[in-house]
Amino acid sequence: MSSLLLLNGSPRGERSNSMKMLSRVAEGWVQAGGAEPEVLHLTKKADSLRAIEAFGTADTVMLGMPLYTDSMPALVKTYIEALAPYVGRDDNPRIGFLVQSGFSEALHSRPLERYLTKLAARLGCEYAGTIVRGGGEALQAMPDEASKRLWERLRGLGESLAREGRFDVELLTQVAGLERLSPWGARWMSLASNLRLIDFYWNGQLKKNGAWDTRFAAPYV
Ligand SMILES: Cc1cc2nc3c(=O)[nH]c(=O)nc-3n(C[C@H](O)[C@H](O)[C@H](O)COP(=O)(O)O)c2cc1C
Repeated sequence: MSSLLLLNGSPRGERSNSMKMLSRVAEGWVQAGGAEPEVLHLTKKADSLRAIEAFGTADTVMLGMPLYTDSMPALVKTYIEALAPYVGRDDNPRIGFLVQSGFSEALHSRPLERYLTKLAARLGCEYAGTIVRGGGEALQAMPDEASKRLWERLRGLGESLAREGRFDVELLTQVAGLERLSPWGARWMSLASNLRLIDFYWNGQLKKNGAWDTRFAAPYV
């Protein structure tokens, strides 16, 4: 049985949108005959150390993350840099990625997707593809039953990874959903932004996490 190392790069850990999506990919992988994956959360120190070691023995690695400032969370970058000793090794694992973002358009994640494609080549890993999904933050607010079609497609991607060693291209397009807002959609977003409707949700998150008073902190200035 082929082994899968499933890495969650969200600072939110187990309750993250990334993990919700990765879990469905893992279900599809197992349904298609893959071994039960080893799941590690890079936000936990012990897991991140184990993830460096486990990279050396896995058949396939799946690294999922939220889009942070058009790129990746620092803990994912730290992990990638720790893989330097594996560069160009003969028996490196196959690698696939998942990037999901707050903005609804998939195009925000495309530059990071290009970086990850290059990363696979630089490491000397066979590239299985990158799952891109916009509007990921909605998964926090919605009940799981509301996303049944997304879960089904993610399971399908897990199955194709186990059977063919890469993600099914048609399913990747379906999961990505909206690539770019229509001109009217863009105007509506701009209006929502000007009226501070978008801030309303994120301000709530700052308060919920006790970070409201320090929201303008600039510790490196
Ligand atoms: C510090 C920070 C930076 C973010 N930057 C972006 C961004 O540049 N573009 C975007 O679409 N979403 C951005 N988001 C939203 C997250 O990508 C989104 O909420 C995601 O679903 C969080 O996933 P998680 O629960 O797995 O961490 C950002 C969120 C945070 C907290």
